[in-house]
Amino acid sequence: MCGIVGYIGNQDAKEILLRGLEKLEYRGYDSAGIALLNDDELHLFKEKGRIADLRKEVDTSVEATAGIGHTRWATHGEPSQINAHPHQSSTERFTLVHNGVIENYQQIKRDFLSEVDFVSATDTEVVVQLISNLVEVQNLTVEDAFHQTLKELHGSYALALIDNTNPETLYVAKNKSPLLVGIGDDFNVVASDSMAMLQVTNKFIELMDEEVVIVKRDSVTIKDMDGNVMEREPFTAEIDASDIEKGTYPHYMLKEIDEQPLAIRNIITKYKDENDNIKLDEDIREAMKDTDRIYIIACGTSYNAGLVGKQLIENIAEVPVEVHIASEFLYNMPLVSKNPLFIFISQSGETADSRGVLVNVKKKGFKSLTITNVPGSTLSREADYTLHTHAGPEIAVASTKAYTAQMAVLTLLAVDTAQAKGMKLDFNPIQELGIVATAMESMIDQKEMIEGVARNFLSVTRNAFFIGRGVDYYVCLEGALKLKEISYIQAEGFAGGELKHGTIALIEKGTPVIALATQKHVNGSIRSNVQEVVARGASPCIISLAGLEEEGDTIVLDEVHEHLTPLASVVPLQLLAYYAALHRECDVDKPRNLAKSVTVE
Ligand code: F6R
Repeated sequence: MCGIVGYIGNQDAKEILLRGLEKLEYRGYDSAGIALLNDDELHLFKEKGRIADLRKEVDTSVEATAGIGHTRWATHGEPSQINAHPHQSSTERFTLVHNGVIENYQQIKRDFLSEVDFVSATDTEVVVQLISNLVEVQNLTVEDAFHQTLKELHGSYALALIDNTNPETLYVAKNKSPLLVGIGDDFNVVASDSMAMLQVTNKFIELMDEEVVIVKRDSVTIKDMDGNVMEREPFTAEIDASDIEKGTYPHYMLKEIDEQPLAIRNIITKYKDENDNIKLDEDIREAMKDTDRIYIIACGTSYNAGLVGKQLIENIAEVPVEVHIASEFLYNMPLVSKNPLFIFISQSGETADSRGVLVNVKKKGFKSLTITNVPGSTLSREADYTLHTHAGPEIAVASTKAYTAQMAVLTLLAVDTAQAKGMKLDFNPIQELGIVATAMESMIDQKEMIEGVARNFLSVTRNAFFIGRGVDYYVCLEGALKLKEISYIQAEGFAGGELKHGTIALIEKGTPVIALATQKHVNGSIRSNVQEVVARGASPCIISLAGLEEEGDTIVLDEVHEHLTPLASVVPLQLLAYYAALHRECDVDKPRNLAKSVTVE
């Protein structure tokens, strides 16, 4: 949450920073700002709203060779121009952007800054005021003051600081929040993720927690908390800049829904060997084979993928699996087995709730595997093993292709484990995932029909229910999450048999009930559940699998293997959510109150 950028070099920083912020807007978009420094004059522009609003306010005649920028997802202090970053010290000498949460900001105010008049309601302002105080009152050098300030901070931060009197230097540091330094030819940049700066470089240096980095036009010096200089080679970001463009699509979400068949085929290619067998890393295979119980830890959509993953691993590889919401597991850890393996599922690889669990699990010496779309991410670096979902950058806040890619990778993990255990399988994942990709394509080709369904069912309703049994229930949770987050319809997913135990009281004339019927062994019962709600006035929309369809079903999916129905059945639910949001004139790619990468607990 929140995205930061910085530039120091010989070109005009303004456009590079603004373009960088546009690429980071998925991290938060309630306000934004940039600070531009030329010689010793600082120009500060801040605006409530989107980067587009900020752009209108920036004086195009200002040219600067150094600057920092920020796009905000508010934690402390409402979204407003005053609370927007960058924040300045009272003397206006120091200017700072921050991503994270300073948990002890009140205490720092009391202990060190009782004389200071704070202008914002943010936790961030204490950081810049304390640095200023240490330099201007206590005569520390800026670097020492920065260092000293970091030692006082509890919580998470990615910081970039500029000093008006020194346009040659950016001061940078991180703890728990992501931050990279990008290396250029006669310039260097700073960014929360590489996508922001692919416009100028694809070479980046990873920063570790509690390091201080002095970034100049022609050098980057990394120091640890004791002042020791650390050597680190840059890596090349493997993202193609065109992958992060919308192209001719009206929204990233639609593009990413359409990319799902390609992502599935990509995963097959990446994980098969020359004999067309699935082959994962030997260490992962051993860890899966040795464990007595798997604990899947995740949030939101990734949690929903974890539920399907449980079914896949238990059915295919016969290893018991528990699935936990990261933020609950963190503070309410259940008894774990003797030899657990923790699997973290995270599109971004940066989610603070999941990372909190990973830190605890590592302390206990348990093994961990991260399944992520961002291989260099924090969860990937810190776990023992990583499986990459290869879905390509996902920009829309509502996750779509990452979810199906996670389930595809979990399928391969289950198959690889079963093979490692010497189990005989009558399931060919390469062939079956190929069939899924084709079924997804055929659903995507029926967009117009699904748009019509969304218009009829969802354009004016207040609420909607999703019902399913078995694995369909897990997909219903995801369908409901998609609908509520982008269309703001109150939507809930239920196990078909559970509705009559209370929730059926909410069914009124015309209430939309979307039912999934892709499971042969419960096809009769889910259809009875549909009858129960229809008898009470609900408008049903039944999505079934070819071979199980009945007259009157709204959408029929092409047949896919029973293990893999979630990968196909979620596609119409994603499209229903997308078109419902469009008909309700919602901002599909940037729904209110949300951010894509949730880096605060
Ligand atoms: C919903 C959505 C979120 C994320 C959740 C976890 O569309 O995207 O629910 O799934 O915030 O994020 P990751 O997967 O990055 O850990």
